[in-house]
Amino acid sequence: MRLCVVFYPARGGIGPGTRQLAGFCPGRWLMLIALRLLFLVPAGEPVRSSDSNFPKAMDNVTVRQGENAVLRCTIDSGVTRVAWLNRSSILYAGKDKWSLDPRVVIVTHSKTEYSIQIVGVDVYDEGPYTCSVQTQNHPRTSRVHVIVQVPPKIVNISSSISVNEGSNVTLLCLAIGRPEPTMTWRHLSPPARGFVSDEYLEITGITREQAGEYECNAYNEVSSDVRKVQVIVNYPPYIPDTRNVGAAVGQKGILQCEAFAVPSADFEWYKEDRRLFNGLNGVQIKNNGDMSMLTFFNVSEEDYGNYTCVASNKLGTSNTSVLLFEVSEPTSSTQIQEEKTSTILANWKGPGAVLDGNNRASAGMTASLWLLAILFVHFLFKF
Ligand SMILES: *[C@@H]1O[C@H](CO)[C@@H](O)[C@H](O)[C@H]1NC(C)=O
Ligand SMILES: *[C@@H]1O[C@H](CO)[C@@H](O)[C@H](O)[C@H]1NC(C)=O
Ligand SMILES: *[C@@H]1O[C@H](CO)[C@@H](O)[C@H](O)[C@H]1NC(C)=O
Ligand SMILES: *[C@@H]1O[C@H](CO)[C@@H](O)[C@H](O)[C@H]1NC(C)=O
Ligand SMILES: *[C@@H]1O[C@H](CO)[C@@H](O)[C@H](O)[C@H]1NC(C)=O
Ligand SMILES: *[C@@H]1O[C@H](CO)[C@@H](O)[C@H](O)[C@H]1NC(C)=O
Ligand SMILES: *[C@@H]1O[C@H](CO)[C@@H](O)[C@H](O)[C@H]1NC(C)=O
Repeated sequence: MRLCVVFYPARGGIGPGTRQLAGFCPGRWLMLIALRLLFLVPAGEPVRSSDSNFPKAMDNVTVRQGENAVLRCTIDSGVTRVAWLNRSSILYAGKDKWSLDPRVVIVTHSKTEYSIQIVGVDVYDEGPYTCSVQTQNHPRTSRVHVIVQVPPKIVNISSSISVNEGSNVTLLCLAIGRPEPTMTWRHLSPPARGFVSDEYLEITGITREQAGEYECNAYNEVSSDVRKVQVIVNYPPYIPDTRNVGAAVGQKGILQCEAFAVPSADFEWYKEDRRLFNGLNGVQIKNNGDMSMLTFFNVSEEDYGNYTCVASNKLGTSNTSVLLFEVSEPTSSTQIQEEKTSTILANWKGPGAVLDGNNRASAGMTASLWLLAILFVHFLFKF
């Protein structure tokens, strides 16, 4: 092992220019030559390794970027000359500062300790630092490594994407930090499925269930950095079950059609081949997200029949048929009861149609108010 040998500069022998010279030395060789030219190291002086307990530098110093690092060197009274070096550059020789870096300051220069401090450590300060002393003409050194930690920072991450179902998706997340950050990808919604400890997350043949929010977490001993990505999975409309609806003449009737799709479906209603439009022929068509509602405010005989709901988006089309069928006209008081029932049904977010005219009651429209009231109360308690 080659070691650095440092002596005190002779009084008045070193000017600012020569200090700079030492600071510029790229290698130990050059430094030794420079020191020899300055008569700091006698020519032929052997470079020897340490064989005593002194000087004794501390263990490796681990600091976070921006914090201060104190480099301590324990010495004894036999030591005549001391210096701290950064690689091959002299930072301090005794009480004289050689380094031009204002962040390097001396903290202790006593008979037992010789310490310097680096203020606001940065990554380029990482590396070996050497405490070098001379005792009875024997140069000795001790080395300490400054290790700089940097919190992780995600520097490049895939942007939110919109893909069709079945596509292959690759999400990328790149982070910097010291030590090298570990990466994990997590599917947030639906919650906490699939962890992949890599900067790449590959999804082959993505499904609609795999849509949602993904989170990249980069972490190391210092801290972590988290970023989120939205993945939209497009798929053609899918219509789950629909329910036929019974309504009495003069009553209100509502046909419902629910279609799941991304992007959301556009709806069209048909009766046989005739397309229905909002506001025409006494019907209202109201679309709300996945749901389309066809409302007859005053059902007439001609309204009964087979209706087709067509849901479409850029990926495809789906249709279903719904019947509006006739039920006997209820009395005005049962109508009030049933409207309350239908409000409850409308609040209950089940699939299918809202029953406005009660088709179950079609056979028993003449049943007493009492029975209906009891049924209604019973119904209320069920929910
Ligand atoms: C100090 O750090 C250096 C470089 O990272 C390493 O080689 C050495 O083993 C460390 N020494 C101790 C005592 O941790
Ligand atoms: C230590 O040396 C490195 C490499 O020359 C330099 O970038 C860094 O600024 C130096 N640090 C100190 C505290 O002198
Ligand atoms: C992020 O990484 C991708 C893929 O490696 C690259 O194409 C893109 O230019 C990078 N973006 C930035 C801002 O570095
Ligand atoms: C998706 O990846 C699989 C396996 O890697 C491959 O067989 C398939 O062709 C890819 N699909 C597309 C759309 O690129
Ligand atoms: C419903 O329509 C019928 C026949 O077209 C009409 O006689 C009746 O007044 C209407 N009822 C309401 C509430 O508009
Ligand atoms: C309604 O019409 C569709 C086609 O338009 C047909 O498939 C279905 O069977 C019809 N439903 C009834 C009850 O007639
Ligand atoms: C409904 O879908 C069937 C096939 O599923 C198709 O043959 C029919 O033409 C569609 N009807 C309408 C009105 O789009």
